[in-house]
Amino acid sequence: MEDLILVTGGAGFIGSNFVLQWIAEESSRVLNLDKLTYAGNLHNLHSVESHPRYYFQQGDIVDRDLVRTLLERERPRAIVHFAAESHVDRSIHGPDDFIRTNVNGTFSLLEEARAYWSALAESDRQSFRFLHVSTDEVYGSLSPSDPAFCETTPYAPNSPYSASKAASDHLARAYYHTYKLPVLTTNCSNNYGPYQFPEKLIPLMILNACQGKALPVYGDGQNVRDWLFVEDHCRAIRSVLASGRAGECYCIGGANEQKNLYIVEALCRLLDELRPNDPVVPHSQLVTFVKDRPGHDRRYAMDTRKIAGELNWHPVETFESGIRKTVRWYLEHEDWVQDVTSGSYRQWMAKHYATEL
Ligand code: NAD
Ligand code: TYD
Repeated sequence: MEDLILVTGGAGFIGSNFVLQWIAEESSRVLNLDKLTYAGNLHNLHSVESHPRYYFQQGDIVDRDLVRTLLERERPRAIVHFAAESHVDRSIHGPDDFIRTNVNGTFSLLEEARAYWSALAESDRQSFRFLHVSTDEVYGSLSPSDPAFCETTPYAPNSPYSASKAASDHLARAYYHTYKLPVLTTNCSNNYGPYQFPEKLIPLMILNACQGKALPVYGDGQNVRDWLFVEDHCRAIRSVLASGRAGECYCIGGANEQKNLYIVEALCRLLDELRPNDPVVPHSQLVTFVKDRPGHDRRYAMDTRKIAGELNWHPVETFESGIRKTVRWYLEHEDWVQDVTSGSYRQWMAKHYATEL
């Protein structure tokens, strides 16, 4: 094997943060396999594009011939699998791509990884790792008094997105139990930070608020998510890859449960401070309650005692420090924003929010 990791979906939000952190803090080479869907953006990786330890291959994880060729040619010591369709609202409008990429794509990677891994020398078979990046959404929805999700919580996915991720998690689990492929699964809560596509809550609200556009809060705004700064998630994945036990799952979260309305109001307060001359100030005047998301999960929360105890991972960023960094990043990266909010993004906004705003 080579001192190389294969990252899938490395041009997306979390994947690109991971690649940037990996190049800065690790010594192995990285091959990024990404289809470059609407969510994949090579500008995220501009600062490493000519780095000697970074390589890019455009391609689809469903394409088994391509995956096989890459594994045989590059001989990675690990696969870190981020590639997915990741937006719940899009999965409600059109689930097909979610089944294709999240289920069939993960199956394709697992099958080709198994064939590659089976032919390795014994010591390489021991050290090879397949890290499957998943979500807390596979566990379903909590009531206010329920204990947080943990690694033994039964799966109960409620959206086509979370169902497709649950299916991929089950395949990953089965490949360890049946074939002993050294699979690790991470289930993380909501991420926020630089490079997040502005269809998701936090960047959408920042960009709309700056332009004096409505801030569409679904339902009563009391749904709870546990928010983690993306770089902390990337550190957690690196810890699991380095020291996690094969066949195990690790729950990752920010110990930061917040209602959506609180998040939106916190963003408005920050923008009042940083952008006092925006068209509508105070920005909170823009908050608009809209029709709820169908099947909207009420609350997610993560019990992170396993990863804290076994791997000594803890988030570095507080919500206050992380959200300030995030808002500043969006304000300072107008070119990136312009780039991703053209074309198909406008069509999505028009279609999804048409009746509500
Ligand atoms: P994203 O939508 O920003 O990026 C997904 C990336 O995958 C894009 O670069 C896209 O081009 C690529 N991709 C999509 N289909 C592909 C295919 N068929 N072949 C190759 N590449 C393909 O997603 P994200 O928010 O960065 O999430 C990354 C992973 O983390 C996903 O597996 C997601 O389920 C998981 N996750 C996300 C969050 C979150 O809050 N965003 C939280 C927990 C877990
Ligand atoms: P999102 O960022 O889409 O992540 P997820 O659905 O994976 O948790 O949404 C986060 C929360 O914000 C979720 O409860 C839905 C809500 N939300 C809104 O209220 N308005 C919006 O325009 C969006 C995109 C999300």
